[in-house]
Amino acid sequence: MSAYSDLLGRLAAQPRSWLVTGAAGFIGSNLVETLLKAGQRVTGLDNFSTGYRRNLDMALEGAGAEHAANFTFIEGDIRRLEDCRQACGGAEYVLHQAALGSVPRSLEDPILTNANNIDGFLNMLVAARDEGTRGFVYAASSSTYGDEPRLPKREDVIGKPLSPYAVTKYVNELYADVFARAYGTRGIGLRYFNIFGQRQDPNGAYAAVIPQWFAGITLGDTVHINGDGETSRDFCYIDNCVQANLLAACSEKDDAWNRVYNVACGQRTTLNELFELIRGEAARHTPKAADARAEKRDFRAGDVRHSLADISRAQDLLGYAPEYDIRAGLREAGHWYAKHL
Ligand SMILES: NC(=O)c1ccc[n+]([C@@H]2O[C@H](COP(=O)([O-])OP(=O)(O)OC[C@H]3O[C@@H](n4cnc5c(N)ncnc54)[C@H](O)[C@@H]3O)[C@@H](O)[C@H]2O)c1
Repeated sequence: MSAYSDLLGRLAAQPRSWLVTGAAGFIGSNLVETLLKAGQRVTGLDNFSTGYRRNLDMALEGAGAEHAANFTFIEGDIRRLEDCRQACGGAEYVLHQAALGSVPRSLEDPILTNANNIDGFLNMLVAARDEGTRGFVYAASSSTYGDEPRLPKREDVIGKPLSPYAVTKYVNELYADVFARAYGTRGIGLRYFNIFGQRQDPNGAYAAVIPQWFAGITLGDTVHINGDGETSRDFCYIDNCVQANLLAACSEKDDAWNRVYNVACGQRTTLNELFELIRGEAARHTPKAADARAEKRDFRAGDVRHSLADISRAQDLLGYAPEYDIRAGLREAGHWYAKHL
């Protein structure tokens, strides 16, 4: 039996209380759905800046009416300490996802990104500490590797940040580390590598590549590849990310705490390959997708060239075992986008 299925069984037998921040977002709403399905009591916090009420509705529907009754939602803002305190009250575990994503957004408005991602993060740490939560798991980012060129990325070797967003995510790690040493809190940072799957927003200037391309390709449009298409990423399906969060929060090994972990698949895919894969998946559902074309344009500022994770730390210390590779993940995502676009 995998560590994850074992954990889900233990959680079902002994429900716990969780806070998910950014609950109306892509990753947060998937965490909410899985926790509720596992019979947990869940509070969600969100200010709907980039998240949607419909994501919450879908998560609750997916969990089923009986489990959905264990969900409480607080519309609030992590930039306000009192909202964080209210949300943390009674929570044993915090899965902190609320932040403003996107490298380009941070280059355009670094002050807004800083306020949400650093001030908001610090508020959450203080609130979680004061409320005596048992574990604080937070969304870190592969952008923290910055200009470090060596592959695969190992947690201990980082370069200089390439964007304000990357700075904010690195500062999160520094604060979590200092809180552990100064106040004895327990934190785990999960450095996500290009997570994708159901409910990831395809719209807007800051949409991630996979949902954006599912939308464009499904319509048979021309989509854009930034650069020569040989830029590569370690794309990771949402269920793997959810697994990592739950394993981290419930980790019983002392030496697993107060560390950061790569959350990825350990496989590298170029943008050229990704285009072919998405076109293939979209065409299963919508024949005109086969006509979609990709057009190259300039490289995008702040983007790293290659990204590939070494996931052995998460495997060894958390029992992380990704169940979906990129192809299996794109198959699932394709079904979802075909229904919801
Ligand atoms: N998706 C990825 O590939 C990826 C990669 C690396 C890191 N991350 C991190 O994972 C987390 C979740 O990302 P996502 O892809 O689900 O993005 P998302 O935009 O779908 O979700 C973020 C959620 O946080 C909420 N939020 C933002 N600022 C808030 C505030 N001040 N107060 C309360 N709620 C607020 C938004 O409304 C949204 O619902 C973020 O911290 C992001 O930086 C994501």
